[in-house]
Amino acid sequence: MLDNYNRRLNYLRISVTDRCNLRCSYCMPEEGIKMLSHSDILTFEEIIDVVMEAVNLGVDKVRITGGEPLVRKGILNLVEMLAAVDGIKDLSMTTNGILLSEFANDLKAKGINRINISLDTLDPEKFSTMTRGGDIEMVKKGILAAREAGIHPIKINCVIDKSKEETDALQVKDYCDANGLNIRYIHKMDLKTGHFAIVEGGDGGDCKNCNRLRLTADGKIKPCLFNNLEFDIRNMGIKEALLAAASLKPECGSFNGNNHFHNIGG
Ligand code: 5AD
Ligand code: SF4
Repeated sequence: MLDNYNRRLNYLRISVTDRCNLRCSYCMPEEGIKMLSHSDILTFEEIIDVVMEAVNLGVDKVRITGGEPLVRKGILNLVEMLAAVDGIKDLSMTTNGILLSEFANDLKAKGINRINISLDTLDPEKFSTMTRGGDIEMVKKGILAAREAGIHPIKINCVIDKSKEETDALQVKDYCDANGLNIRYIHKMDLKTGHFAIVEGGDGGDCKNCNRLRLTADGKIKPCLFNNLEFDIRNMGIKEALLAAASLKPECGSFNGNNHFHNIGG
């Protein structure tokens, strides 16, 4: 699929749930969130149908996101189903790591090649405050379990305020260096105001070279994280929604008044 700016869209990010076992302050809005109801959430079969159509149209790279993907019931079955789709060259996941020690071996066995794990600080108290109750030890255990399982590379998503020289970011960097992990710095973003920036050490936020489409947990194809546009696969049909998203993908992000990070997966 080529969009109107000649960008080849070969990367689909799938949010499999809007739920999360953490409450990061920059992700979950303060007023709390309205969760999707069960019937709105795509079934695994529907997700696979979207992926097969996307592969027909040229997608060969898929990432599973959330919310937190590991809280979706049966997630290993979905990983296995995705890994079995012909034409996917790269299957990855972004997780907060809390449940990863439990899942790492099976994720690897079912076909996850690479994984991104969020970690913004090494200070246990700060981590708990930022995530509104998370236990950093579980994340660290998860990271080591992923490494033991042979998932490679492991990328650490580190959200920074302004610079990668901030104390927290420097400490996360040292931890990554000591443990054979790659770090990516993500500037704190605001979907509502359209405040976003290029991911350092990754390729998000680079509009000119953006190859992404997104599928929300309730079946909407979004051409851009920083735009309100979305195309409902259940109303429009899968192929139609994918093609509409591709042809209307904006040249550059602006702002997104509909979504929060917890339901779009970053
Ligand atoms: N700005 C930047 N990154 C964010 N993430 C969640 N909310 C924000 C935000 N407001 C990141 C998480 C995770 C990824 C999925 O998105 O830290 O690594
Ligand atoms: Fe959960 Fe990730 Fe949002 Fe934190 S940033 S609340 S871990 S989805």
